[in-house]
Amino acid sequence: MGKNIQIAIDGPAGAGKSTIAKIVAEQLGFTYIDTGAMYRAVTYKALKENIQLNDEKKLEEMLLKTKIDLKPSPNGQLVFLDGEDVTKKIRSNEVTANVPQVASLAKVREILVAKQKQLAKDGAVVMDGRDIGTHVLKEAELKIFMSASVEERAKRRLLDNKKRGIPSDYEQLKEEIALRDQQDMERKISPLVQAEDAIYLDTTHLSIEEVAEKILHLAKEKME
Ligand code: C5P
Repeated sequence: MGKNIQIAIDGPAGAGKSTIAKIVAEQLGFTYIDTGAMYRAVTYKALKENIQLNDEKKLEEMLLKTKIDLKPSPNGQLVFLDGEDVTKKIRSNEVTANVPQVASLAKVREILVAKQKQLAKDGAVVMDGRDIGTHVLKEAELKIFMSASVEERAKRRLLDNKKRGIPSDYEQLKEEIALRDQQDMERKISPLVQAEDAIYLDTTHLSIEEVAEKILHLAKEKME
């Protein structure tokens, strides 16, 4: 057994981060932490409670009374919001379209980032998101910035949605992904940007296995 390192995987929507992060974590016996799921859970709850998504004060109050748990299961990671399994609900088009607005608020990020740091403090984690290498786990031993063309990412999302039983349209997905990238890259706090010490991986022409293999190889070097 090597060192219990931290692996940070960042990149735009639909680049395959969560699929890859899950495989890498499983192979290394590490914990996978999907930070996007946390921002999604907060957005889901705010929508349900009819809170204005730009009302930072109300969202902060809501968050301080909110419990988000990520639990591994044989069918992938489950997301619990105040004890309720919201794994599927947080993937709806409505939640997806509204997450960037909620994720742009300083207070929301402050609370969730503190939780993410706490979850990763003992190492042996693979964490994916937008600001993991740049803010959440600045000291991570391995940082990956993963991307792919917007067409390829829309294609992958389409397949993914089909598997999850979510109806969607390719052209619309492409537009939504491009818009979400723009919102995530242009926000003031912790925008989506590659960390200086991250390794860039263009996955457009790579299979899931090839990407996972590359990262596992890099991880094992760091664990020696
Ligand atoms: O990764 P996923 O697509 O589920 O993320 C949903 C949204 O959550 C992103 O578009 C982004 O607005 C936000 N997010 C973030 N920081 C993270 C992870 C996700 O701002 N670390």
